[in-house]
Amino acid sequence: MTLVVHRTVAEFRRACDAVRATGASLGLVPTMGALHAGHLALIDAARERGTTVAVTIFVNPTQFGPNEDYSRYPRALERDVELCRERRVAHVFAPLEREMYPEGERTRVRVSDLTEGLCGPKRPGHFEGVATIVTKLFAVAGPCTAFFGRKDYQQLKVVERLARDLLLPVEVVGRPTVRDADGLALSSRNAYLSVAERERASALPRALSVAVRAFERGERRAGALRQPVEQALTEAGLRVDYVELAGADALEKIADDEAVQDRAVLAVAAFAENTRLIDNVVLGEDPPPLPEIAP
Ligand code: PAJ
Repeated sequence: MTLVVHRTVAEFRRACDAVRATGASLGLVPTMGALHAGHLALIDAARERGTTVAVTIFVNPTQFGPNEDYSRYPRALERDVELCRERRVAHVFAPLEREMYPEGERTRVRVSDLTEGLCGPKRPGHFEGVATIVTKLFAVAGPCTAFFGRKDYQQLKVVERLARDLLLPVEVVGRPTVRDADGLALSSRNAYLSVAERERASALPRALSVAVRAFERGERRAGALRQPVEQALTEAGLRVDYVELAGADALEKIADDEAVQDRAVLAVAAFAENTRLIDNVVLGEDPPPLPEIAP
Protein backbone atom coordinates (compact mmCIF):
# COMPACT_ATOMS: atom_id res chain seq x y z
CA MET A 1 0.00 0.00 0.00
CA THR A 2 1.40 3.39 -0.88
CA LEU A 3 1.02 6.21 1.56
CA VAL A 4 -0.44 9.47 0.26
CA VAL A 5 0.19 12.82 1.97
CA HIS A 6 -2.67 15.33 1.66
CA ARG A 7 -2.23 19.06 2.24
CA THR A 8 -5.77 20.26 1.56
CA VAL A 9 -9.19 19.59 3.09
CA ALA A 10 -10.66 18.79 -0.33
CA GLU A 11 -8.03 16.13 -1.13
CA PHE A 12 -8.22 14.46 2.26
CA ARG A 13 -12.03 14.43 2.20
CA ARG A 14 -11.95 12.76 -1.23
CA ALA A 15 -9.44 10.17 0.01
CA CYS A 16 -11.62 9.31 3.04
CA ASP A 17 -14.71 8.98 0.81
CA ALA A 18 -12.72 6.71 -1.52
CA VAL A 19 -11.72 4.43 1.38
CA ARG A 20 -15.37 3.96 2.37
CA ALA A 21 -16.43 3.52 -1.26
CA THR A 22 -14.32 0.33 -1.41
CA GLY A 23 -16.27 -1.03 1.57
CA ALA A 24 -13.37 -0.54 3.98
CA SER A 25 -13.76 1.30 7.27
CA LEU A 26 -11.64 4.31 8.10
CA GLY A 27 -9.47 4.55 11.22
CA LEU A 28 -8.50 8.10 12.17
CA VAL A 29 -5.54 8.97 14.40
CA PRO A 30 -5.37 12.73 15.09
CA THR A 31 -1.94 13.98 16.23
CA MET A 32 0.25 17.05 16.38
CA GLY A 33 3.19 15.08 14.97
CA ALA A 34 6.65 14.45 16.44
CA LEU A 35 5.39 10.90 16.55
CA HIS A 36 6.52 8.54 19.31
CA ALA A 37 5.57 5.05 20.45
CA GLY A 38 2.37 6.38 22.08
CA HIS A 39 1.11 7.64 18.71
CA LEU A 40 2.32 4.48 16.98
CA ALA A 41 0.32 2.34 19.42
CA LEU A 42 -2.83 4.22 18.31
CA ILE A 43 -1.94 3.50 14.68
CA ASP A 44 -1.41 -0.18 15.52
CA ALA A 45 -4.75 -0.32 17.34
CA ALA A 46 -6.47 1.17 14.28
CA ARG A 47 -4.79 -1.31 11.95
CA GLU A 48 -5.54 -4.24 14.22
CA ARG A 49 -9.22 -3.28 14.08
CA GLY A 50 -9.00 -3.78 10.34
CA THR A 51 -9.44 -0.15 9.40
CA THR A 52 -7.64 1.71 6.62
CA VAL A 53 -5.57 4.11 8.70
CA ALA A 54 -5.40 7.88 8.25
CA VAL A 55 -3.12 9.94 10.51
CA THR A 56 -3.59 13.69 10.83
CA ILE A 57 -0.60 15.85 11.72
CA PHE A 58 -1.37 19.44 12.62
CA VAL A 59 0.09 21.60 15.38
CA ASN A 60 -3.17 23.32 16.23
CA PRO A 61 -2.53 26.97 17.16
CA THR A 62 -5.88 27.55 18.92
CA GLN A 63 -5.16 25.03 21.69
CA PHE A 64 -1.96 26.77 22.83
CA GLY A 65 -2.10 29.65 25.30
CA PRO A 66 -0.19 32.89 24.59
CA ASN A 67 2.68 31.85 26.89
CA GLU A 68 2.75 28.23 25.82
CA ASP A 69 5.07 26.37 23.45
CA TYR A 70 3.31 26.69 20.06
CA SER A 71 6.33 28.18 18.27
CA ARG A 72 8.85 25.71 19.67
CA TYR A 73 6.60 22.63 19.57
CA PRO A 74 8.64 19.90 17.77
CA ARG A 75 7.89 19.56 14.05
CA ALA A 76 9.28 16.60 12.10
CA LEU A 77 6.97 15.97 9.15
CA GLU A 78 9.36 13.98 6.95
CA ARG A 79 10.32 11.64 9.74
CA ASP A 80 6.67 11.31 10.81
CA VAL A 81 5.62 10.37 7.27
CA GLU A 82 8.38 7.74 7.19
CA LEU A 83 7.16 6.26 10.50
CA CYS A 84 3.61 6.20 9.11
CA ARG A 85 4.82 4.44 5.97
CA GLU A 86 6.54 1.76 8.09
CA ARG A 87 3.27 1.25 9.98
CA ARG A 88 1.27 0.81 6.76
CA VAL A 89 -0.71 4.02 7.20
CA ALA A 90 -2.62 4.75 3.98
CA HIS A 91 -3.21 8.51 4.34
CA VAL A 92 -1.48 11.36 6.14
CA PHE A 93 -3.32 14.67 6.39
CA ALA A 94 -0.89 17.51 7.13
CA PRO A 95 -2.83 20.68 6.37
CA LEU A 96 -1.58 24.24 6.35
CA GLU A 97 -3.12 26.49 8.99
CA ARG A 98 -5.35 28.38 6.51
CA GLU A 99 -6.95 25.10 5.42
CA MET A 100 -8.16 24.34 8.94
CA TYR A 101 -8.86 27.98 9.85
CA PRO A 102 -10.04 29.67 6.67
CA GLU A 103 -9.73 33.43 6.48
CA GLY A 104 -12.42 35.11 8.56
CA GLU A 105 -13.48 31.98 10.48
CA ARG A 106 -15.39 32.75 13.69
CA THR A 107 -16.65 29.39 15.03
CA ARG A 108 -15.51 27.56 18.17
CA VAL A 109 -16.73 24.39 19.88
CA ARG A 110 -16.98 24.45 23.67
CA VAL A 111 -17.78 21.47 25.87
CA SER A 112 -18.96 22.59 29.32
CA ASP A 113 -18.64 20.83 32.71
CA LEU A 114 -15.96 18.37 31.61
CA THR A 115 -13.56 21.25 31.09
CA GLU A 116 -14.18 23.00 34.41
CA GLY A 117 -11.61 21.08 36.47
CA LEU A 118 -8.18 19.48 36.00
CA CYS A 119 -6.36 21.16 33.08
CA GLY A 120 -9.37 23.38 32.21
CA PRO A 121 -8.73 26.34 34.54
CA LYS A 122 -4.95 25.96 34.17
CA ARG A 123 -5.04 26.28 30.39
CA PRO A 124 -7.82 28.74 29.51
CA GLY A 125 -9.07 28.17 25.98
CA HIS A 126 -7.12 24.95 25.54
CA PHE A 127 -10.05 22.54 25.37
CA GLU A 128 -12.01 24.92 23.18
CA GLY A 129 -9.10 24.77 20.74
CA VAL A 130 -8.96 20.98 20.99
CA ALA A 131 -12.74 20.55 20.62
CA THR A 132 -12.79 22.90 17.64
CA ILE A 133 -9.97 21.23 15.72
CA VAL A 134 -11.19 17.69 16.48
CA THR A 135 -14.69 18.63 15.29
CA LYS A 136 -13.19 20.00 12.07
CA LEU A 137 -11.07 16.87 11.57
CA PHE A 138 -14.14 14.67 12.13
CA ALA A 139 -16.09 16.85 9.68
CA VAL A 140 -13.43 16.37 7.02
CA ALA A 141 -12.86 12.63 7.61
CA GLY A 142 -16.55 11.66 7.79
CA PRO A 143 -17.74 8.33 9.23
CA CYS A 144 -14.81 6.63 10.95
CA THR A 145 -13.41 5.15 14.14
CA ALA A 146 -11.09 7.64 15.85
CA PHE A 147 -8.35 6.64 18.28
CA PHE A 148 -7.22 8.73 21.26
CA GLY A 149 -4.79 8.09 24.12
CA ARG A 150 -5.82 7.90 27.76
CA LYS A 151 -2.66 9.83 28.58
CA ASP A 152 -4.77 12.91 27.80
CA TYR A 153 -7.71 11.58 29.77
CA GLN A 154 -9.69 14.81 30.02
CA GLN A 155 -9.22 15.37 26.28
CA LEU A 156 -10.53 11.86 25.59
CA LYS A 157 -13.67 12.59 27.64
CA VAL A 158 -14.17 15.93 25.84
CA VAL A 159 -13.85 14.26 22.43
CA GLU A 160 -16.24 11.45 23.37
CA ARG A 161 -18.75 14.04 24.49
CA LEU A 162 -18.55 16.32 21.47
CA ALA A 163 -18.91 13.37 19.09
CA ARG A 164 -22.02 12.32 20.95
CA ASP A 165 -23.53 15.78 21.46
CA LEU A 166 -22.96 16.92 17.87
CA LEU A 167 -24.24 13.61 16.46
CA LEU A 168 -21.00 13.05 14.57
CA PRO A 169 -20.68 9.69 12.77
CA VAL A 170 -17.50 8.84 14.67
CA GLU A 171 -16.82 6.05 17.12
CA VAL A 172 -14.25 7.27 19.66
CA VAL A 173 -11.87 4.65 21.06
CA GLY A 174 -9.59 5.32 24.05
CA ARG A 175 -6.29 3.46 24.32
CA PRO A 176 -3.90 2.91 27.28
CA THR A 177 -0.97 5.21 28.03
CA VAL A 178 2.35 4.05 26.59
CA ARG A 179 5.26 4.54 28.99
CA ASP A 180 9.06 4.47 28.99
CA ALA A 181 10.95 1.85 30.99
CA ASP A 182 10.93 4.10 34.09
CA GLY A 183 7.18 4.60 33.76
CA LEU A 184 7.24 8.15 32.35
CA ALA A 185 4.36 8.60 29.90
CA LEU A 186 5.67 9.20 26.39
CA SER A 187 5.06 12.74 25.16
CA SER A 188 6.40 14.90 22.36
CA ARG A 189 7.21 17.42 25.11
CA ASN A 190 9.64 15.01 26.81
CA ALA A 191 12.11 16.16 24.14
CA TYR A 192 12.38 19.46 26.05
CA LEU A 193 13.70 17.76 29.20
CA SER A 194 17.36 17.92 30.23
CA VAL A 195 18.88 14.75 31.70
CA ALA A 196 18.31 16.05 35.24
CA GLU A 197 14.70 17.08 34.50
CA ARG A 198 14.02 13.73 32.84
CA GLU A 199 15.21 12.06 36.04
CA ARG A 200 12.92 14.21 38.19
CA ALA A 201 9.99 13.57 35.85
CA SER A 202 10.05 9.87 36.71
CA ALA A 203 8.53 10.87 40.06
CA LEU A 204 5.15 11.18 38.30
CA PRO A 205 4.63 7.49 37.50
CA ARG A 206 6.22 6.49 40.83
CA ALA A 207 3.82 8.68 42.81
CA LEU A 208 0.81 7.45 40.82
CA SER A 209 1.91 3.84 41.37
CA VAL A 210 1.97 4.37 45.13
CA ALA A 211 -1.60 5.71 44.95
CA VAL A 212 -2.81 2.75 42.87
CA ARG A 213 -1.24 0.37 45.41
CA ALA A 214 -2.96 2.19 48.27
CA PHE A 215 -6.30 2.02 46.43
CA GLU A 216 -5.77 -1.69 45.78
CA ARG A 217 -5.14 -2.20 49.52
CA GLY A 218 -8.54 -0.64 50.18
CA GLU A 219 -7.76 3.03 50.84
CA ARG A 220 -10.79 5.08 49.79
CA ARG A 221 -10.23 8.42 51.55
CA ALA A 222 -9.58 10.91 48.78
CA GLY A 223 -7.12 12.99 50.78
CA ALA A 224 -5.10 9.92 51.78
CA LEU A 225 -4.82 8.95 48.12
CA ARG A 226 -4.17 12.44 46.73
CA GLN A 227 -1.93 14.22 49.25
CA PRO A 228 1.05 11.80 49.17
CA VAL A 229 1.19 12.24 45.39
CA GLU A 230 1.42 16.00 45.72
CA GLN A 231 4.08 15.65 48.39
CA ALA A 232 6.16 13.15 46.40
CA LEU A 233 6.18 15.38 43.32
CA THR A 234 7.22 18.43 45.33
CA GLU A 235 9.95 16.45 47.10
CA ALA A 236 11.25 15.29 43.71
CA GLY A 237 11.79 18.93 42.71
CA LEU A 238 8.77 19.30 40.43
CA ARG A 239 6.44 22.29 40.59
CA VAL A 240 2.92 20.93 41.03
CA ASP A 241 0.27 22.54 38.83
CA TYR A 242 -2.45 20.31 40.25
CA VAL A 243 -3.05 16.88 41.71
CA GLU A 244 -6.77 16.10 41.57
CA LEU A 245 -9.18 13.24 42.02
CA ALA A 246 -12.28 13.30 39.84
CA GLY A 247 -15.07 10.95 38.81
CA ALA A 248 -13.84 8.84 35.90
CA ASP A 249 -16.72 9.74 33.55
CA ALA A 250 -18.14 13.19 34.36
CA LEU A 251 -14.83 14.37 35.89
CA GLU A 252 -16.60 15.93 38.88
CA LYS A 253 -14.08 16.93 41.53
CA ILE A 254 -13.67 14.67 44.57
CA ALA A 255 -12.64 16.72 47.63
CA ASP A 256 -10.07 15.48 50.14
CA ASP A 257 -12.71 14.89 52.82
CA GLU A 258 -14.79 12.71 50.51
CA ALA A 259 -14.48 9.01 49.83
CA VAL A 260 -13.72 7.59 46.41
CA GLN A 261 -16.65 5.38 45.47
CA ASP A 262 -15.67 3.24 42.53
CA ARG A 263 -13.76 4.47 39.50
CA ALA A 264 -11.95 7.76 39.90
CA VAL A 265 -9.25 9.41 37.85
CA LEU A 266 -6.20 10.63 39.72
CA ALA A 267 -4.71 13.25 37.41
CA VAL A 268 -1.55 15.30 37.80
CA ALA A 269 0.16 18.16 36.03
CA ALA A 270 3.61 19.30 37.11
CA PHE A 271 6.42 21.40 35.73
CA ALA A 272 10.00 20.23 35.40
CA GLU A 273 11.47 23.72 35.03
CA ASN A 274 9.52 25.08 32.04
CA THR A 275 8.13 21.80 30.73
CA ARG A 276 4.60 20.93 31.76
CA LEU A 277 4.00 17.21 32.13
CA ILE A 278 0.68 15.45 32.69
CA ASP A 279 -0.19 11.94 33.72
CA ASN A 280 -3.11 10.05 35.24
CA VAL A 281 -4.42 6.70 36.40
CA VAL A 282 -7.99 5.56 36.72
CA LEU A 283 -8.20 4.01 40.19
CA GLY A 284 -10.20 0.82 40.07
CA GLU A 285 -9.29 0.26 36.42
CA ASP A 286 -5.66 0.94 35.49
CA PRO A 287 -2.71 -1.07 36.78
CA PRO A 288 0.05 0.88 38.53
CA PRO A 289 2.29 2.62 35.94
CA LEU A 290 5.23 0.79 37.57
CA PRO A 291 3.88 -2.67 38.41
CA GLU A 292 7.24 -3.93 39.69
CA ILE A 293 7.60 -1.37 42.51
CA ALA A 294 6.77 -2.99 45.84
CA PRO A 295 4.26 -1.19 48.05
P1 PAJ B 1 -0.78 14.76 20.49
O1 PAJ B 1 -0.27 15.28 21.79
O2 PAJ B 1 0.15 14.66 19.33
O3 PAJ B 1 -1.41 13.35 20.77
C1 PAJ B 1 -2.10 12.66 19.75
C2 PAJ B 1 -2.76 11.45 20.36
O4 PAJ B 1 -1.78 10.58 20.90
C3 PAJ B 1 -3.72 11.82 21.49
O5 PAJ B 1 -4.88 11.02 21.42
C4 PAJ B 1 -2.90 11.49 22.72
O6 PAJ B 1 -3.69 11.17 23.86
C5 PAJ B 1 -2.13 10.28 22.23
N1 PAJ B 1 -0.93 10.05 23.05
C6 PAJ B 1 0.06 10.92 23.31
N2 PAJ B 1 0.97 10.37 24.14
C7 PAJ B 1 0.53 9.12 24.41
C8 PAJ B 1 1.02 8.03 25.21
N3 PAJ B 1 2.15 8.13 25.91
N4 PAJ B 1 0.30 6.90 25.24
C9 PAJ B 1 -0.86 6.78 24.54
N5 PAJ B 1 -1.37 7.76 23.77
C10 PAJ B 1 -0.68 8.91 23.71
O7 PAJ B 1 -3.45 15.24 21.69
C11 PAJ B 1 -3.15 15.91 20.71
O8 PAJ B 1 -2.02 15.67 19.98
C12 PAJ B 1 -4.00 17.05 20.20
O9 PAJ B 1 -4.63 17.69 21.27
C13 PAJ B 1 -5.05 16.62 19.13
C14 PAJ B 1 -6.07 15.64 19.70
C15 PAJ B 1 -4.34 16.02 17.91
C16 PAJ B 1 -5.83 17.88 18.67
O10 PAJ B 1 -4.98 18.84 18.18
